Amino acid sequence: MQRKSILLLISGGIAAYKSAELIRLLRKAGVGVTCVLTKGGAQFVTPLTLGALSENKVYTDLFDLKDEVEMGHIQLSRATDMIIVCPASADILAKMAAGIADDLATTILLATDKPVIVAPAMNVRMWQHAATRRNVAQLRADGVTIIEPDVGEMACGEFGPGRLPEPAALLTHVLAALAGDSADALAGQPDFADDNVDALDGRHILITAGPTHEAIDPVRYIANKSSGKQGFAIAAAAADAGANVTLVAGPVNLPTPPGVTRIDVTSAREMAATVEKALPADVAIMVAAVADWRAAAIAPTKIKKDGSGIIPPLPLTQNPDILAGLASSPQRPGLLIGFAAETDNVIAHAQAKLARKGCDWIIANDVAADPMGGEVNRVHIITANGVESWDRLSKSAVARAIIAKIAEILPGME
Ligand code: C5P
Repeated sequence: MQRKSILLLISGGIAAYKSAELIRLLRKAGVGVTCVLTKGGAQFVTPLTLGALSENKVYTDLFDLKDEVEMGHIQLSRATDMIIVCPASADILAKMAAGIADDLATTILLATDKPVIVAPAMNVRMWQHAATRRNVAQLRADGVTIIEPDVGEMACGEFGPGRLPEPAALLTHVLAALAGDSADALAGQPDFADDNVDALDGRHILITAGPTHEAIDPVRYIANKSSGKQGFAIAAAAADAGANVTLVAGPVNLPTPPGVTRIDVTSAREMAATVEKALPADVAIMVAAVADWRAAAIAPTKIKKDGSGIIPPLPLTQNPDILAGLASSPQRPGLLIGFAAETDNVIAHAQAKLARKGCDWIIANDVAADPMGGEVNRVHIITANGVESWDRLSKSAVARAIIAKIAEILPGME
Protein backbone atom coordinates (compact mmCIF):
# COMPACT_ATOMS: atom_id res chain seq x y z
CA MET A 1 0.00 0.00 0.00
CA GLN A 2 1.43 3.41 -0.89
CA ARG A 3 1.79 5.58 2.20
CA LYS A 4 -1.64 6.61 3.44
CA SER A 5 -2.59 8.98 6.17
CA ILE A 6 -5.62 9.30 8.38
CA LEU A 7 -7.05 12.00 10.59
CA LEU A 8 -8.00 10.46 13.94
CA LEU A 9 -10.68 12.38 15.86
CA ILE A 10 -10.77 11.36 19.51
CA SER A 11 -13.87 12.28 21.48
CA GLY A 12 -14.66 11.90 25.16
CA GLY A 13 -15.00 8.47 26.76
CA ILE A 14 -13.06 5.99 28.82
CA ALA A 15 -12.31 4.03 25.60
CA ALA A 16 -10.11 6.95 24.45
CA TYR A 17 -7.12 5.10 25.89
CA LYS A 18 -7.57 2.44 23.18
CA SER A 19 -7.02 5.08 20.49
CA ALA A 20 -3.44 5.47 21.76
CA GLU A 21 -2.79 1.79 20.97
CA LEU A 22 -4.57 2.18 17.61
CA ILE A 23 -2.13 4.99 16.70
CA ARG A 24 0.81 2.74 17.56
CA LEU A 25 -0.56 -0.09 15.39
CA LEU A 26 -1.33 2.26 12.49
CA ARG A 27 2.17 3.73 12.61
CA LYS A 28 3.63 0.21 12.65
CA ALA A 29 1.54 -0.56 9.55
CA GLY A 30 3.07 2.49 7.83
CA VAL A 31 0.00 4.74 8.05
CA GLY A 32 0.52 8.41 8.89
CA VAL A 33 -1.71 9.63 11.73
CA THR A 34 -2.74 13.16 12.65
CA CYS A 35 -4.84 13.51 15.80
CA VAL A 36 -7.61 15.93 16.68
CA LEU A 37 -8.63 15.81 20.32
CA THR A 38 -11.99 17.13 21.55
CA LYS A 39 -12.37 18.79 24.95
CA GLY A 40 -14.03 15.60 26.25
CA GLY A 41 -11.28 13.43 24.76
CA ALA A 42 -8.64 15.54 26.52
CA GLN A 43 -10.17 14.47 29.85
CA PHE A 44 -8.99 10.92 29.09
CA VAL A 45 -5.80 11.20 26.99
CA THR A 46 -3.32 14.04 26.67
CA PRO A 47 -2.05 15.78 23.53
CA LEU A 48 1.45 14.81 24.66
CA THR A 49 0.64 11.07 24.52
CA LEU A 50 -0.99 11.38 21.10
CA GLY A 51 1.79 13.59 19.76
CA ALA A 52 4.51 11.19 20.94
CA LEU A 53 2.76 8.14 19.45
CA SER A 54 1.75 9.75 16.15
CA GLU A 55 5.01 11.73 15.84
CA ASN A 56 2.79 14.51 14.59
CA LYS A 57 1.23 17.75 15.76
CA VAL A 58 -2.02 17.28 17.71
CA TYR A 59 -4.88 19.70 17.04
CA THR A 60 -7.37 20.68 19.71
CA ASP A 61 -8.64 24.19 19.14
CA LEU A 62 -10.78 25.65 16.36
CA PHE A 63 -9.75 29.21 17.19
CA ASP A 64 -5.99 28.66 17.51
CA LEU A 65 -4.58 31.48 15.41
CA LYS A 66 -1.22 29.79 14.83
CA ASP A 67 -2.83 26.52 13.65
CA GLU A 68 -5.23 28.39 11.39
CA VAL A 69 -2.38 30.31 9.75
CA GLU A 70 -0.21 27.19 9.33
CA MET A 71 -2.87 24.66 8.32
CA GLY A 72 -6.46 25.80 8.66
CA HIS A 73 -9.31 23.53 9.59
CA ILE A 74 -10.62 23.18 6.02
CA GLN A 75 -7.23 22.05 4.74
CA LEU A 76 -6.86 19.72 7.73
CA SER A 77 -10.18 18.07 6.82
CA ARG A 78 -9.02 17.41 3.24
CA ALA A 79 -5.29 16.67 3.62
CA THR A 80 -5.96 13.07 4.59
CA ASP A 81 -7.13 9.82 3.00
CA MET A 82 -9.78 9.14 5.59
CA ILE A 83 -11.23 10.39 8.85
CA ILE A 84 -11.71 8.01 11.77
CA VAL A 85 -13.72 9.10 14.82
CA CYS A 86 -12.54 6.78 17.59
CA PRO A 87 -13.97 6.57 20.13
CA ALA A 88 -17.15 8.31 19.00
CA SER A 89 -19.25 9.41 21.97
CA ALA A 90 -23.07 9.64 21.85
CA ASP A 91 -22.58 13.43 21.85
CA ILE A 92 -20.38 13.56 18.75
CA LEU A 93 -22.70 11.13 16.90
CA ALA A 94 -25.61 13.47 17.68
CA LYS A 95 -23.66 16.51 16.50
CA MET A 96 -22.56 14.77 13.31
CA ALA A 97 -26.13 13.63 12.56
CA ALA A 98 -27.43 17.17 13.11
CA GLY A 99 -24.58 18.88 11.23
CA ILE A 100 -23.48 20.87 14.27
CA ALA A 101 -19.99 22.35 14.00
CA ASP A 102 -19.13 23.88 17.36
CA ASP A 103 -15.53 22.76 17.82
CA LEU A 104 -12.56 21.72 15.68
CA ALA A 105 -13.52 18.02 15.35
CA THR A 106 -17.14 18.64 14.34
CA THR A 107 -16.15 21.47 12.00
CA ILE A 108 -13.67 19.17 10.24
CA LEU A 109 -16.39 16.50 9.94
CA LEU A 110 -18.72 18.98 8.25
CA ALA A 111 -16.01 20.38 5.97
CA THR A 112 -14.43 17.13 4.77
CA ASP A 113 -14.80 15.51 1.38
CA LYS A 114 -13.12 12.30 2.55
CA PRO A 115 -14.64 8.98 3.73
CA VAL A 116 -15.57 8.96 7.41
CA ILE A 117 -15.53 5.92 9.70
CA VAL A 118 -16.84 6.12 13.25
CA ALA A 119 -16.24 3.67 16.07
CA PRO A 120 -18.87 4.39 18.72
CA ALA A 121 -18.24 3.50 22.37
CA MET A 122 -20.62 4.24 25.21
CA ASN A 123 -22.77 2.76 27.94
CA VAL A 124 -25.18 0.09 26.67
CA ARG A 125 -28.31 2.16 27.52
CA MET A 126 -26.90 5.19 25.71
CA TRP A 127 -26.12 3.01 22.66
CA GLN A 128 -29.63 1.53 22.69
CA HIS A 129 -31.39 4.87 23.31
CA ALA A 130 -33.84 5.83 20.57
CA ALA A 131 -31.95 9.10 20.00
CA THR A 132 -28.64 7.30 19.38
CA ARG A 133 -30.36 4.72 17.13
CA ARG A 134 -31.82 7.60 15.10
CA ASN A 135 -28.48 9.37 14.87
CA VAL A 136 -26.63 6.21 13.79
CA ALA A 137 -29.29 5.50 11.12
CA GLN A 138 -28.94 9.09 9.87
CA LEU A 139 -25.14 8.82 9.70
CA ARG A 140 -25.40 5.56 7.74
CA ALA A 141 -27.82 7.22 5.35
CA ASP A 142 -25.28 10.06 5.00
CA GLY A 143 -22.63 7.54 3.91
CA VAL A 144 -20.69 7.31 7.16
CA THR A 145 -19.35 3.84 7.98
CA ILE A 146 -20.08 2.60 11.49
CA ILE A 147 -17.82 0.06 13.16
CA GLU A 148 -20.29 -1.74 15.42
CA PRO A 149 -19.35 -1.73 19.08
CA ASP A 150 -18.59 -5.06 20.73
CA VAL A 151 -20.77 -6.79 23.26
CA GLY A 152 -19.12 -7.15 26.64
CA GLU A 153 -18.58 -5.88 30.12
CA MET A 154 -18.36 -2.08 30.32
CA ALA A 155 -16.18 0.14 32.45
CA CYS A 156 -19.40 1.05 34.35
CA GLY A 157 -20.04 -2.64 35.21
CA GLU A 158 -23.03 -3.14 32.88
CA PHE A 159 -22.99 -5.77 30.11
CA GLY A 160 -24.10 -5.42 26.50
CA PRO A 161 -23.24 -3.73 23.20
CA GLY A 162 -21.29 -0.47 23.48
CA ARG A 163 -17.67 -1.49 24.03
CA LEU A 164 -15.06 -0.15 21.63
CA PRO A 165 -13.57 -3.13 19.73
CA GLU A 166 -9.97 -3.98 20.56
CA PRO A 167 -7.34 -1.89 18.71
CA ALA A 168 -6.23 -4.88 16.58
CA ALA A 169 -9.81 -5.29 15.30
CA LEU A 170 -10.09 -1.53 14.65
CA LEU A 171 -6.80 -1.67 12.73
CA THR A 172 -8.18 -4.43 10.48
CA HIS A 173 -11.19 -2.25 9.59
CA VAL A 174 -9.10 0.84 8.95
CA LEU A 175 -6.52 -0.97 6.79
CA ALA A 176 -9.30 -2.67 4.78
CA ALA A 177 -10.96 0.68 4.21
CA LEU A 178 -7.66 2.33 3.23
CA ALA A 179 -6.77 -0.53 0.87
CA GLY A 180 -10.11 -0.12 -0.89
CA ASP A 181 -9.65 3.64 -0.72
CA SER A 182 -13.26 3.83 0.34
CA ALA A 183 -15.33 2.90 3.32
CA ASP A 184 -17.03 0.31 1.07
CA ALA A 185 -14.13 -1.95 1.92
CA LEU A 186 -15.98 -2.56 5.17
CA ALA A 187 -18.77 -4.29 3.30
CA GLY A 188 -17.97 -7.45 5.31
CA GLN A 189 -19.39 -5.56 8.29
CA PRO A 190 -23.10 -6.16 8.75
CA ASP A 191 -25.57 -3.31 9.12
CA PHE A 192 -27.16 -5.08 12.02
CA ALA A 193 -28.01 -2.40 14.51
CA ASP A 194 -30.87 -0.70 12.76
CA ASP A 195 -32.27 -3.32 10.42
CA ASN A 196 -32.63 -6.16 12.84
CA VAL A 197 -33.84 -4.72 16.11
CA ASP A 198 -36.96 -6.81 16.88
CA ALA A 199 -36.49 -8.80 13.63
CA LEU A 200 -36.64 -12.05 15.63
CA ASP A 201 -39.43 -10.95 17.97
CA GLY A 202 -40.99 -13.95 19.72
CA ARG A 203 -38.79 -16.57 18.02
CA HIS A 204 -37.19 -19.23 20.20
CA ILE A 205 -33.48 -19.59 19.48
CA LEU A 206 -31.61 -22.41 21.17
CA ILE A 207 -27.83 -22.03 21.40
CA THR A 208 -25.08 -24.23 22.83
CA ALA A 209 -21.73 -22.68 23.75
CA GLY A 210 -18.42 -23.43 25.39
CA PRO A 211 -16.59 -26.71 25.93
CA THR A 212 -17.79 -29.78 27.80
CA HIS A 213 -15.91 -31.42 30.63
CA GLU A 214 -15.91 -35.22 30.66
CA ALA A 215 -14.98 -36.63 34.05
CA ILE A 216 -12.25 -39.27 34.34
CA ASP A 217 -12.34 -39.42 38.12
CA PRO A 218 -13.46 -36.94 40.84
CA VAL A 219 -10.56 -34.54 40.08
CA ARG A 220 -9.71 -35.04 36.40
CA TYR A 221 -11.57 -34.41 33.18
CA ILE A 222 -11.21 -34.26 29.38
CA ALA A 223 -11.71 -30.72 28.03
CA ASN A 224 -10.86 -28.43 25.11
CA LYS A 225 -9.84 -24.80 24.58
CA SER A 226 -13.30 -23.39 23.70
CA SER A 227 -13.94 -20.10 25.58
CA GLY A 228 -17.67 -19.83 24.79
CA LYS A 229 -17.18 -16.22 23.51
CA GLN A 230 -18.65 -16.81 20.04
CA GLY A 231 -21.73 -18.65 21.33
CA PHE A 232 -22.35 -16.03 24.04
CA ALA A 233 -22.00 -13.22 21.48
CA ILE A 234 -24.57 -14.95 19.24
CA ALA A 235 -26.93 -15.31 22.22
CA ALA A 236 -26.50 -11.59 23.00
CA ALA A 237 -27.15 -10.58 19.38
CA ALA A 238 -30.23 -12.86 19.15
CA ALA A 239 -31.70 -11.41 22.38
CA ASP A 240 -30.94 -7.92 21.08
CA ALA A 241 -32.98 -8.74 17.97
CA GLY A 242 -35.97 -9.69 20.13
CA ALA A 243 -35.64 -13.50 20.22
CA ASN A 244 -36.37 -15.69 23.26
CA VAL A 245 -32.94 -17.17 23.73
CA THR A 246 -32.05 -20.36 25.59
CA LEU A 247 -28.30 -20.65 26.03
CA VAL A 248 -27.01 -24.05 27.13
CA ALA A 249 -23.52 -23.29 28.36
CA GLY A 250 -20.66 -25.62 29.14
CA PRO A 251 -18.15 -24.64 31.84
CA VAL A 252 -17.07 -21.08 30.92
CA ASN A 253 -16.23 -17.95 32.80
CA LEU A 254 -18.55 -15.45 31.07
CA PRO A 255 -21.42 -13.24 32.30
CA THR A 256 -24.92 -13.97 30.97
CA PRO A 257 -25.99 -11.48 28.27
CA PRO A 258 -29.13 -9.48 29.20
CA GLY A 259 -32.43 -11.09 28.30
CA VAL A 260 -30.91 -14.57 27.80
CA THR A 261 -32.09 -17.71 29.66
CA ARG A 262 -28.93 -19.60 30.52
CA ILE A 263 -28.67 -23.20 31.66
CA ASP A 264 -25.23 -24.33 32.80
CA VAL A 265 -24.13 -27.91 32.12
CA THR A 266 -20.87 -29.79 32.43
CA SER A 267 -20.81 -32.90 30.21
CA ALA A 268 -21.94 -33.67 26.66
CA ARG A 269 -24.66 -35.98 27.92
CA GLU A 270 -26.04 -33.24 30.21
CA MET A 271 -25.89 -30.81 27.30
CA ALA A 272 -27.76 -33.24 25.04
CA ALA A 273 -30.51 -33.82 27.64
CA THR A 274 -30.86 -30.07 28.31
CA VAL A 275 -31.09 -29.25 24.60
CA GLU A 276 -33.80 -31.88 24.15
CA LYS A 277 -35.80 -30.46 27.07
CA ALA A 278 -35.55 -26.92 25.65
CA LEU A 279 -37.30 -27.91 22.37
CA PRO A 280 -39.25 -26.83 20.39
CA ALA A 281 -37.15 -24.05 18.88
CA ASP A 282 -37.43 -22.08 15.64
CA VAL A 283 -33.66 -22.02 15.26
CA ALA A 284 -30.87 -24.04 16.90
CA ILE A 285 -27.28 -22.87 16.69
CA MET A 286 -24.88 -25.47 18.04
CA VAL A 287 -21.72 -23.51 18.77
CA ALA A 288 -20.42 -25.66 21.63
CA ALA A 289 -17.19 -27.59 21.19
CA VAL A 290 -18.68 -30.81 22.50
CA ALA A 291 -16.14 -33.47 23.49
CA ASP A 292 -16.30 -36.30 21.00
CA TRP A 293 -15.34 -38.91 23.57
CA ARG A 294 -15.72 -39.47 27.30
CA ALA A 295 -14.16 -41.96 29.68
CA ALA A 296 -15.95 -45.31 29.28
CA ALA A 297 -16.25 -45.45 33.07
CA ILE A 298 -15.75 -42.67 35.63
CA ALA A 299 -13.54 -43.89 38.49
CA PRO A 300 -15.38 -43.29 41.80
CA THR A 301 -12.13 -42.30 43.57
CA LYS A 302 -8.99 -40.54 42.37
CA ILE A 303 -6.87 -42.82 40.17
CA LYS A 304 -3.54 -43.21 41.99
CA LYS A 305 0.02 -43.64 40.81
CA ASP A 306 1.05 -46.95 42.35
CA GLY A 307 4.81 -46.50 41.84
CA SER A 308 5.03 -49.33 39.29
CA GLY A 309 5.38 -46.91 36.38
CA ILE A 310 2.45 -48.61 34.63
CA ILE A 311 0.23 -46.02 32.97
CA PRO A 312 -3.44 -46.72 33.70
CA PRO A 313 -5.50 -47.37 30.58
CA LEU A 314 -8.15 -44.80 29.73
CA PRO A 315 -10.79 -46.46 27.57
CA LEU A 316 -13.01 -43.94 25.81
CA THR A 317 -16.51 -44.13 24.45
CA GLN A 318 -18.40 -41.97 21.94
CA ASN A 319 -20.50 -39.04 23.17
CA PRO A 320 -23.93 -38.39 21.68
CA ASP A 321 -23.82 -36.02 18.70
CA ILE A 322 -26.27 -33.31 19.75
CA LEU A 323 -26.38 -31.60 16.35
CA ALA A 324 -26.92 -34.83 14.39
CA GLY A 325 -29.51 -35.89 16.99
CA LEU A 326 -31.45 -32.65 16.47
CA ALA A 327 -31.30 -33.10 12.69
CA SER A 328 -33.12 -36.44 12.88
CA SER A 329 -35.46 -35.47 15.72
CA PRO A 330 -39.22 -35.20 15.10
CA GLN A 331 -38.86 -31.76 16.73
CA ARG A 332 -36.10 -30.67 14.34
CA PRO A 333 -35.88 -26.84 14.44
CA GLY A 334 -36.79 -25.18 11.13
CA LEU A 335 -33.26 -23.82 10.83
CA LEU A 336 -30.43 -25.93 12.23
CA ILE A 337 -26.92 -24.51 12.29
CA GLY A 338 -23.69 -26.22 13.26
CA PHE A 339 -20.17 -24.91 13.70
CA ALA A 340 -16.95 -26.50 12.52
CA ALA A 341 -13.57 -25.63 13.96
CA GLU A 342 -11.01 -26.92 11.48
CA THR A 343 -7.23 -26.71 11.22
CA ASP A 344 -6.89 -27.73 7.55
CA ASN A 345 -8.98 -27.96 4.37
CA VAL A 346 -11.53 -25.83 6.24
CA ILE A 347 -14.19 -25.53 3.53
CA ALA A 348 -13.94 -29.11 2.21
CA HIS A 349 -14.21 -30.58 5.70
CA ALA A 350 -17.11 -28.28 6.56
CA GLN A 351 -18.97 -29.22 3.35
CA ALA A 352 -18.63 -32.90 4.26
CA LYS A 353 -19.88 -32.09 7.78
CA LEU A 354 -22.99 -30.35 6.43
CA ALA A 355 -24.02 -33.56 4.67
CA ARG A 356 -22.98 -35.86 7.50
CA LYS A 357 -24.78 -33.95 10.26
CA GLY A 358 -27.95 -33.16 8.30
CA CYS A 359 -28.03 -29.49 9.29
CA ASP A 360 -28.87 -26.45 7.13
CA TRP A 361 -25.72 -24.38 7.59
CA ILE A 362 -22.24 -25.10 8.82
CA ILE A 363 -20.28 -22.08 10.00
CA ALA A 364 -16.65 -23.02 9.57
CA ASN A 365 -13.65 -21.31 11.06
CA ASP A 366 -9.94 -21.94 10.75
CA VAL A 367 -8.66 -22.44 14.28
CA ALA A 368 -5.10 -22.69 12.97
CA ALA A 369 -5.38 -19.01 11.87
CA ASP A 370 -7.62 -17.81 14.75
CA PRO A 371 -6.92 -20.04 17.74
CA MET A 372 -9.82 -20.89 20.06
CA GLY A 373 -10.34 -18.37 22.84
CA GLY A 374 -9.36 -15.31 20.75
CA GLU A 375 -11.40 -12.16 20.01
CA VAL A 376 -11.72 -12.46 16.22
CA ASN A 377 -13.04 -15.01 13.77
CA ARG A 378 -12.91 -15.43 10.02
CA VAL A 379 -15.85 -17.61 9.11
CA HIS A 380 -17.28 -19.30 6.02
CA ILE A 381 -21.01 -20.01 5.87
CA ILE A 382 -21.60 -23.30 4.08
CA THR A 383 -25.14 -24.04 2.87
CA ALA A 384 -26.70 -26.16 0.13
CA ASN A 385 -26.42 -23.04 -2.06
CA GLY A 386 -22.67 -22.63 -1.73
CA VAL A 387 -20.05 -20.89 0.40
CA GLU A 388 -20.07 -17.32 1.71
CA SER A 389 -16.80 -16.09 3.24
CA TRP A 390 -16.73 -13.09 5.56
CA ASP A 391 -13.84 -10.83 6.52
CA ARG A 392 -11.98 -11.48 9.75
CA LEU A 393 -14.28 -9.74 12.28
CA SER A 394 -14.68 -9.48 16.02
CA LYS A 395 -16.78 -12.30 17.48
CA SER A 396 -19.52 -9.73 18.23
CA ALA A 397 -19.61 -8.63 14.60
CA VAL A 398 -19.70 -12.27 13.42
CA ALA A 399 -22.60 -12.85 15.84
CA ARG A 400 -24.57 -9.85 14.56
CA ALA A 401 -23.96 -10.90 10.96
CA ILE A 402 -25.22 -14.44 11.67
CA ILE A 403 -28.34 -13.08 13.38
CA ALA A 404 -28.91 -10.63 10.51
CA LYS A 405 -28.67 -13.51 8.02
CA ILE A 406 -31.12 -15.61 10.07
CA ALA A 407 -33.55 -12.67 10.35
CA GLU A 408 -33.37 -12.27 6.58
CA ILE A 409 -34.29 -15.85 5.66
CA LEU A 410 -36.57 -16.88 8.55
CA PRO A 411 -39.78 -15.21 7.29
CA GLY A 412 -39.46 -17.07 3.95
CA MET A 413 -39.20 -20.44 5.73
CA GLU A 414 -42.79 -20.44 7.09
O1 C5P B 1 -18.03 -33.23 14.39
P1 C5P B 1 -17.64 -31.90 14.95
O2 C5P B 1 -17.40 -31.93 16.43
O3 C5P B 1 -16.52 -31.22 14.23
O4 C5P B 1 -18.93 -31.00 14.68
C1 C5P B 1 -19.05 -29.72 15.19
C2 C5P B 1 -20.50 -29.35 15.27
O5 C5P B 1 -21.25 -30.40 15.83
C3 C5P B 1 -20.72 -28.19 16.22
O6 C5P B 1 -21.86 -27.48 15.80
C4 C5P B 1 -20.94 -28.86 17.54
O7 C5P B 1 -21.67 -28.04 18.44
C5 C5P B 1 -21.73 -30.08 17.13
N1 C5P B 1 -21.50 -31.25 17.97
C6 C5P B 1 -22.52 -31.72 18.76
N2 C5P B 1 -22.34 -32.85 19.52
C7 C5P B 1 -21.17 -33.52 19.49
C8 C5P B 1 -20.11 -33.06 18.68
C9 C5P B 1 -20.31 -31.90 17.94
O8 C5P B 1 -23.59 -31.12 18.80
N3 C5P B 1 -21.02 -34.59 20.23
